[in-house]
Amino acid sequence: MTDLMKAVDLRRHYGVSRGLFQPSATVKAVDGVSFTLNAGQTLAIVGESGCGKSTLARLLALFEEPTEGELFIDGKPVTQADAATRKHLRQSVQMVFQNPYGSLNPRHTIGGALEEPLAINRPAMSAADRRAAAEA
Ligand SMILES: Nc1ncnc2c1ncn2[C@@H]1O[C@H](COP(=O)(O)OP(=O)(O)OP(=O)(O)O)[C@@H](O)[C@H]1O
Ligand SMILES: [Mg+2]
Repeated sequence: MTDLMKAVDLRRHYGVSRGLFQPSATVKAVDGVSFTLNAGQTLAIVGESGCGKSTLARLLALFEEPTEGELFIDGKPVTQADAATRKHLRQSVQMVFQNPYGSLNPRHTIGGALEEPLAINRPAMSAADRRAAAEA
């Protein structure tokens, strides 16, 4: 069985300015995260504020690239993948935001909100199939 998602020593460091004439500092937002996630498993990431949860989530959703380390989705290496492969892999990861006021457009129906990502990520899908998937 292929691992759904595998992280090997993922790191994300940010260079931050400390002001004029000051050497810049490095914030190690994520500094060596490794895990394997199989189909049907749930992985929870818990930690104090500022420990790097959101940064890790951005790496896993391919919104950002790691400074170091390797990420595999469905066994495929993401880090060295070309732009087309990354685009394809990005479509297989979905963020679900917790706050309904920030994530759901009140002018859309729930069905419409569920159909929209399919319209963007599955261009070959017919409108009827999108509707069926949203209602399932
Ligand atoms: N773009 C960035 N540039 C510089 N530093 C950053 C950047 N993004 C995050 N950081 C820093 O990286 C560290 C981890 O931040 P992150 O937002 O990932 O933490 P978190 O665990 O999600 O916190 P919270 O529980 O408050 O949401 C913090 O010190 C934060 O200030
Ligand atoms: Mg956060």
